[in-house]
Amino acid sequence: MAVTELSDLELVKQAVLSQGRVIGNDILKVDSFLNHQLDVDLLNAIGRIFHEKFGHLAIDKIMTAEVSGIAIAAIAAQYFKVPVIFAKKTLSKNLDPDTWEGTVYSYTKKQTYQIRVAKRYLTPGEKVLILDDFLANGEAIKGMKQIIDDAKAEMVGSGVVIEKSFQPGASLLQHLGIPVYPIIQVESLDNESISLK
Ligand code: G4P
Repeated sequence: MAVTELSDLELVKQAVLSQGRVIGNDILKVDSFLNHQLDVDLLNAIGRIFHEKFGHLAIDKIMTAEVSGIAIAAIAAQYFKVPVIFAKKTLSKNLDPDTWEGTVYSYTKKQTYQIRVAKRYLTPGEKVLILDDFLANGEAIKGMKQIIDDAKAEMVGSGVVIEKSFQPGASLLQHLGIPVYPIIQVESLDNESISLK
């Protein structure tokens, strides 16, 4: 019998459905391949999907936020052949003092914090693609867009692996003129079951 090869999109969907665990009715744990342990084959499939979507655009740099975005952006960057810059969440001696800053509100911690990118790594006119793991409330992407705008760079696109469509992030960002391309859209996590759009 012929073995049908799964498409990259099917691979990602299957991983979410078979490995994802629902916590409460709004958190999807995917730490077996995306948020803790990393499945590099799957990250490559994700990278190829983003490249298929955005590869025709002139992109100078991919931006993400630490921590979970880094693996996704770094693997995707191999297809785009561009550098990755990740916004840092904590101040350290390692970070240049001269930074662009974005404000992010954390719904889980109920407080705002700053994300920072050194000015030397984001310059006016650079074309930037934002990639991240989850789109829930849209705060992280909003903060990264603020950094790109302040740097007078240009956001040419934005993508996430998993959009939780039942949370407000996607429509909020759409209203702000920041459309986000989701690989997977989760419609509901009610009753501990994962429903995809
Ligand atoms: P936002 O990222 O859309 O702004 O949403 P929110 O403030 O609600 O998310 C806070 C953090 O929780 C983010 O990670 C986000 O990626 C993550 N998150 C939100 N919903 C889920 C979910 O259902 N499952 C998982 N696994 N993560 C979720 P972060 O604090 O920036 O953390 P990290 O990048 O260091 O992992």
